[in-house]
Amino acid sequence: MPSETIGGPLTPDKVPLVTGEEPFGVLFTQAGCAVCHVIPGIPGANGHVGPPLILGTTGTQRLTDPAYGGEARTVHEYIVESVLDPQRFVVQGYPEHTMPTWYGSKLSALALEQIAVYLEQQTAEH
Ligand code: HEC
Repeated sequence: MPSETIGGPLTPDKVPLVTGEEPFGVLFTQAGCAVCHVIPGIPGANGHVGPPLILGTTGTQRLTDPAYGGEARTVHEYIVESVLDPQRFVVQGYPEHTMPTWYGSKLSALALEQIAVYLEQQTAEH
Protein backbone atom coordinates (compact mmCIF):
# COMPACT_ATOMS: atom_id res chain seq x y z
CA MET A 1 0.00 0.00 0.00
CA PRO A 2 1.42 3.45 -0.87
CA SER A 3 2.22 5.49 2.17
CA GLU A 4 -0.11 8.43 2.08
CA THR A 5 0.64 11.74 3.61
CA ILE A 6 -2.02 12.51 6.12
CA GLY A 7 -2.78 16.20 6.04
CA GLY A 8 -3.64 18.02 9.24
CA PRO A 9 -4.34 16.44 12.59
CA LEU A 10 -5.21 12.79 12.68
CA THR A 11 -8.95 12.56 13.23
CA PRO A 12 -11.10 9.42 13.47
CA ASP A 13 -12.60 9.95 10.02
CA LYS A 14 -9.14 9.54 8.48
CA VAL A 15 -8.66 6.12 9.98
CA PRO A 16 -10.55 3.17 8.52
CA LEU A 17 -11.57 0.35 10.77
CA VAL A 18 -8.59 -1.90 11.33
CA THR A 19 -9.55 -5.56 11.46
CA GLY A 20 -6.21 -7.08 12.40
CA GLU A 21 -6.10 -9.24 9.28
CA GLU A 22 -3.91 -6.73 7.45
CA PRO A 23 -0.18 -7.28 7.09
CA PHE A 24 1.66 -5.36 9.83
CA GLY A 25 2.91 -2.67 7.44
CA VAL A 26 -0.64 -1.86 6.37
CA LEU A 27 -2.02 -2.11 9.87
CA PHE A 28 0.39 0.39 11.44
CA THR A 29 0.21 2.74 8.47
CA GLN A 30 -3.58 2.72 8.15
CA ALA A 31 -4.07 3.23 11.85
CA GLY A 32 -1.82 6.30 11.69
CA CYS A 33 0.67 5.00 14.28
CA ALA A 34 3.48 5.45 11.75
CA VAL A 35 2.88 9.19 11.63
CA CYS A 36 3.93 9.62 15.25
CA HIS A 37 6.13 6.62 16.02
CA VAL A 38 9.25 4.88 14.82
CA ILE A 39 8.28 1.21 14.50
CA PRO A 40 11.07 -1.23 13.65
CA GLY A 41 10.40 -3.22 10.51
CA ILE A 42 7.64 -0.93 9.30
CA PRO A 43 8.68 1.12 6.25
CA GLY A 44 7.71 4.75 6.62
CA ALA A 45 7.15 4.55 10.37
CA ASN A 46 9.50 7.40 11.18
CA GLY A 47 7.44 9.65 13.42
CA HIS A 48 9.02 11.29 16.43
CA VAL A 49 5.98 12.76 18.11
CA GLY A 50 5.84 9.76 20.42
CA PRO A 51 8.54 7.36 21.64
CA PRO A 52 9.94 4.65 19.36
CA LEU A 53 7.78 1.57 19.80
CA ILE A 54 10.45 -0.80 21.04
CA LEU A 55 8.48 -2.24 23.92
CA GLY A 56 10.67 -5.33 24.03
CA THR A 57 13.23 -2.94 25.50
CA THR A 58 11.16 -0.20 27.11
CA GLY A 59 8.13 -2.17 28.28
CA THR A 60 9.58 -3.48 31.54
CA GLN A 61 10.96 -0.02 32.34
CA ARG A 62 7.44 1.40 32.09
CA LEU A 63 5.92 -1.26 34.32
CA THR A 64 8.55 -0.73 37.00
CA ASP A 65 8.48 3.08 36.75
CA PRO A 66 7.35 4.43 40.15
CA ALA A 67 5.13 6.88 38.28
CA TYR A 68 3.29 4.07 36.50
CA GLY A 69 -0.22 3.79 37.97
CA GLY A 70 -1.93 1.67 35.37
CA GLU A 71 -3.28 -1.84 35.67
CA ALA A 72 -1.07 -3.71 33.25
CA ARG A 73 1.04 -6.52 34.67
CA THR A 74 2.72 -7.60 31.46
CA VAL A 75 4.26 -5.67 28.59
CA HIS A 76 1.51 -7.06 26.37
CA GLU A 77 -1.16 -5.59 28.65
CA TYR A 78 0.77 -2.34 28.87
CA ILE A 79 0.71 -1.94 25.10
CA VAL A 80 -3.04 -2.55 24.91
CA GLU A 81 -3.62 -0.13 27.78
CA SER A 82 -1.39 2.51 26.14
CA VAL A 83 -3.39 2.33 22.91
CA LEU A 84 -6.83 2.37 24.52
CA ASP A 85 -6.06 4.82 27.29
CA PRO A 86 -2.93 6.82 26.42
CA GLN A 87 -3.39 9.23 29.30
CA ARG A 88 -3.07 6.45 31.85
CA PHE A 89 0.69 6.77 31.71
CA VAL A 90 2.43 9.51 29.79
CA VAL A 91 5.97 8.60 28.84
CA GLN A 92 8.39 11.14 30.28
CA GLY A 93 9.68 13.64 27.75
CA TYR A 94 6.68 13.25 25.45
CA PRO A 95 3.54 15.39 25.21
CA GLU A 96 0.31 14.29 26.88
CA HIS A 97 -3.08 14.70 25.19
CA THR A 98 -1.40 14.01 21.86
CA MET A 99 -1.88 10.34 21.14
CA PRO A 100 -5.49 9.88 19.98
CA THR A 101 -7.89 8.57 22.61
CA TRP A 102 -10.37 7.09 20.15
CA TYR A 103 -8.49 3.99 19.04
CA GLY A 104 -10.87 1.79 21.00
CA SER A 105 -13.49 2.49 18.34
CA LYS A 106 -11.18 1.92 15.38
CA LEU A 107 -9.23 -1.19 16.26
CA SER A 108 -10.81 -4.61 16.49
CA ALA A 109 -9.83 -6.89 19.36
CA LEU A 110 -7.71 -8.84 16.88
CA ALA A 111 -5.99 -5.67 15.68
CA LEU A 112 -5.12 -4.74 19.27
CA GLU A 113 -3.81 -8.22 19.87
CA GLN A 114 -1.67 -8.08 16.72
CA ILE A 115 -0.28 -4.69 17.71
CA ALA A 116 0.69 -5.94 21.15
CA VAL A 117 2.24 -9.14 19.81
CA TYR A 118 4.32 -7.19 17.31
CA LEU A 119 5.45 -4.35 19.53
CA GLU A 120 6.38 -6.44 22.55
CA GLN A 121 8.99 -8.15 20.36
CA GLN A 122 10.70 -5.00 19.13
CA THR A 123 13.97 -4.19 20.82
CA ALA A 124 15.85 -1.77 18.57
CA GLU A 125 15.02 1.27 16.52
CA HIS A 126 16.09 -0.39 13.29
C1 HEC B 1 -0.76 11.92 16.94
C2 HEC B 1 0.39 11.14 17.39
C3 HEC B 1 0.22 9.70 17.79
C4 HEC B 1 -0.42 8.69 17.11
C5 HEC B 1 -1.20 8.79 15.81
C6 HEC B 1 -0.19 7.48 17.86
N1 HEC B 1 0.54 7.75 18.97
FE1 HEC B 1 1.20 6.41 20.34
N2 HEC B 1 1.97 7.92 21.47
C7 HEC B 1 2.03 9.25 21.09
C8 HEC B 1 2.67 10.02 22.15
C9 HEC B 1 2.93 11.52 22.13
C10 HEC B 1 3.02 9.10 23.15
C11 HEC B 1 3.76 9.42 24.47
C12 HEC B 1 2.84 10.04 25.48
C13 HEC B 1 1.95 9.03 26.13
O1 HEC B 1 2.49 8.10 26.75
O2 HEC B 1 0.72 9.16 25.99
C14 HEC B 1 2.55 7.78 22.70
C15 HEC B 1 2.72 6.59 23.42
C16 HEC B 1 2.47 5.33 22.92
C17 HEC B 1 2.79 4.08 23.57
C18 HEC B 1 3.55 3.93 24.87
C19 HEC B 1 5.01 3.81 24.45
C20 HEC B 1 6.01 3.61 25.53
O3 HEC B 1 7.20 3.66 25.19
O4 HEC B 1 5.66 3.40 26.69
C21 HEC B 1 2.39 3.08 22.76
C22 HEC B 1 2.52 1.58 23.00
C23 HEC B 1 1.79 3.68 21.60
N3 HEC B 1 1.85 5.05 21.71
C24 HEC B 1 1.26 2.97 20.54
C25 HEC B 1 0.61 3.54 19.45
C26 HEC B 1 -0.05 2.78 18.42
C27 HEC B 1 -0.07 1.27 18.33
C28 HEC B 1 -0.63 3.69 17.58
C29 HEC B 1 -1.53 3.41 16.40
C30 HEC B 1 -2.65 2.53 16.66
C31 HEC B 1 -0.28 5.02 18.07
N4 HEC B 1 0.47 4.89 19.21
C32 HEC B 1 -0.66 6.22 17.48
C33 HEC B 1 1.55 9.78 19.92
C34 HEC B 1 0.82 9.10 18.97
